[in-house]
Amino acid sequence: MTEDGKEATAGGGNSDAASGQPSEPPSPAVGERGPMIQVRNLHKRFGDNKVLKGVSLDVQRGQVTVFIGPSGSGKTTLLRCINFLEEYDEGEVLIDGQLMGYRDEGGRRVRDNESNISRMRAQMGMVFQHFHLWPHKTVIENVIEGLVVVQRMDKKAAAERGAQLLERVGLGDKIDVYPSTLSGGQMQRAAIARALAMEPVILLFDEPTSSLDPELVGEVLDVMKTLAEEDSRRQGSTMVVVTHEIGFAREVADNVVMLDEGHIIEQGPPDTVLRNPSHPRTQNFISKVLH
Ligand SMILES: Nc1ncnc2c1ncn2[C@@H]1O[C@H](COP(=O)(O)OP(=O)(O)O)[C@@H](O)[C@H]1O
Ligand SMILES: [Mg+2]
Repeated sequence: MTEDGKEATAGGGNSDAASGQPSEPPSPAVGERGPMIQVRNLHKRFGDNKVLKGVSLDVQRGQVTVFIGPSGSGKTTLLRCINFLEEYDEGEVLIDGQLMGYRDEGGRRVRDNESNISRMRAQMGMVFQHFHLWPHKTVIENVIEGLVVVQRMDKKAAAERGAQLLERVGLGDKIDVYPSTLSGGQMQRAAIARALAMEPVILLFDEPTSSLDPELVGEVLDVMKTLAEEDSRRQGSTMVVVTHEIGFAREVADNVVMLDEGHIIEQGPPDTVLRNPSHPRTQNFISKVLH
């Protein structure tokens, strides 16, 4: 059952009829605020190449959503539209109920101003396949860059937070080294710490383990599992993860979304989509990634 389901039940127990209070609509509690991310009929093309062809999806607060699907199906593009690294052609992305990237001007949709876009984007942290760490900065300098430059946090306070986060991802002893001295798994954990530094409410991961040697995949997935578990307890971050790690998805995902040629062809809990998929293309895809 979802958090929303529980809230509804609790609310029912305190109904106006039971308490005898005059009925006035209560202000919405946190758990009743609707999905964290709503994607509505999203279309995106690059030139003649239609990449997303009407994608609709809700991502609930505090939940882990996993995108699966063959290469080229539009998973990265969908993630990049969610944080507006890509403009989209039609449809809507709503973050916490607010339209991402555009505003209405006399009935016409125009690109929102950059400060609004940045403010909304600041709610999201992204972890990329290829880490994107600065090679000329130490690990901690990479982690606190956003805090110091964007949030203008005092350097000492930023360094304290950075050190805590590096401890949390198991890199407490790598604070002052340069990324080139790290393994891929350590680099990706540093990139996760960097994403966490800005305290985002949404974490987006784009195939975070697919460029790693097989023996390094586990340490990154373990960090992500810990995040998902901590966050589901305190209803913190919402995670969206593109991955081919079916075991991780089975264990951690609340919702699995299968994309194929720019459409969502199937979605639901991992026990359904991963163990007993109804669409032949999902069956085919899963059997391939399981080897
Ligand atoms: N910036 C871009 N310019 C042109 N085509 C792109 C761009 N990004 C992605 N595409 C195309 O969009 C399609 C979907 O790509 P992508 O979203 O990366 O898929 P996936 O992540 O599922 O592998 C591919 O055909 C890809 O070539
Ligand atoms: Mg991709």
